[in-house]
Amino acid sequence: MKKLIFPAMLLAAACMVPAPVRADDTPLAKEMEAMDDAYKAFRRETDPAKGAKAAREAQESVLKAIPLVPAMVEKMPAGEAKDKAIASYRTQMGKLFVSLCEVEAAFVAKDLAKVATLVDTLKGQKKEGHNEFIEDEE
Ligand code: HEM
Repeated sequence: MKKLIFPAMLLAAACMVPAPVRADDTPLAKEMEAMDDAYKAFRRETDPAKGAKAAREAQESVLKAIPLVPAMVEKMPAGEAKDKAIASYRTQMGKLFVSLCEVEAAFVAKDLAKVATLVDTLKGQKKEGHNEFIEDEE
């Protein structure tokens, strides 16, 4: 019986550790999810009309996400560092919007090779944005 006390205490301690704050329920997370759906829809799309439509849907989500502030930045105290972070977030989202317009144009031009190159660019933009603006992201 005694042998069980230590594991039981460990388990109790583990339960007390607060779960990391996950920014998965914010208005921004919802726009990100919608963008992710559109992104997944055009990533391997070969039909130009369908691809261009999905690219436009992703653009819509980005436009809605630009005025929002990442949860991590929201928590920062008011000041220069926070202002810089917000400006950096908007800059990256602006670049993402431009890339998505380029994806749309590539589909319209039926240039699937260009779409593939742009998908690589998007992957990099996503990684950079998530590294900088999501707390528990690698
Ligand atoms: C192709 C580009 C991108 C895709 C497909 C994408 C997708 C996603 C997904 C699926 C989530 C998780 C939502 C959830 O937890 O339910 C997310 C969260 C998030 N993304 Fe992106 N993302 C992209 C680019 C970016 C960029 C460029 C930035 C920043 C400039 C960014 C900032 C964030 C932030 C801050 C969150 C957490 C939500 C919050 O803090 O409220 N993402 N993204």
